[in-house]
Amino acid sequence: MKNFLKIEDFSKEEIDLIFEKIDKVKKDYPSNKNQQNNLSAITFFSEPSTRTRFSFERALSYLKIPVISSSDASGSSSLKKGESFKDTFRTLSQYSDLIVFRHFDEKWVEYAKYSRVPVINAGNGSGEHPTQALLDLYTIKSELGNIENKNVLICGDLKLGRTVHSLIKVLAQNNCKILTCPSILYKHESLPPISLDLPSSYGFYPSIKINEVEDYLEDIDILYMTRTQKERIDEYNTAFFDFFKLDNRTINKLKDKCVILHPLPRNEEISEEVDDDPRSAYHERQIKNGLYTRIALIQYLLQC
Ligand code: CP
Repeated sequence: MKNFLKIEDFSKEEIDLIFEKIDKVKKDYPSNKNQQNNLSAITFFSEPSTRTRFSFERALSYLKIPVISSSDASGSSSLKKGESFKDTFRTLSQYSDLIVFRHFDEKWVEYAKYSRVPVINAGNGSGEHPTQALLDLYTIKSELGNIENKNVLICGDLKLGRTVHSLIKVLAQNNCKILTCPSILYKHESLPPISLDLPSSYGFYPSIKINEVEDYLEDIDILYMTRTQKERIDEYNTAFFDFFKLDNRTINKLKDKCVILHPLPRNEEISEEVDDDPRSAYHERQIKNGLYTRIALIQYLLQC
């Protein structure tokens, strides 16, 4: 066995031999017939993820597309050394045919145009999560038969939770009636409450107070629950949050043909006691649809 730890490890002859090999790789690339296919992908994640990263990687393995994966990309890539997103995309796109990217800086999406290959947004800070919206929409269609004209109640952290920012646009496209119930953050007991409502750029959606939610539940077709984005709020240690909670008592007010969704991870806003209710789609159907959606999305973008 031979290591390559310093340039002197290779003789001049060995270097010439390696150059010959590089010439051959360059000539064959990217049409090397020995490979199952010629595609490869990079999953570049700079924020924690369970569902998005693993479902994308499973989707890629299902499609026999080799993947280069990083789960701690801001700590382990050259972003840490001050490299720009622009140069990062230029570089990554030389190594792959598809980039799946998640980063806490909302603005990274503006630099995806410097990639020479398709980039999928797997989450940009509090901005958007479009693949989640796609799988949520697909789940609604499979659960209820269609998406149009539904009564939707979205609860939780509507300002910082990115999944809602993407979902609300496609629900509105389908003429859904959207009601929101933002969680309330009290920064400190001595400060007034701050309503975490949707930014106005997403349009106006009637907002109800947490103690009013139960009055509306019997008319809701889709209940979309989200957690408070504690990791995006500096004051979390001294903060007190209030939010609508779904439990055995409140779920009884929903109609039989209602679908309960949550992008997950879930915190205290859905009690585990309602997990087995047939209306709860979040743990199995919604997650599994995430895999199917991402397989189809990759096939679509790469035409494979
Ligand atoms: N829904 C979602 O984005 O989950 P992960 O953060 O676990 O990927």
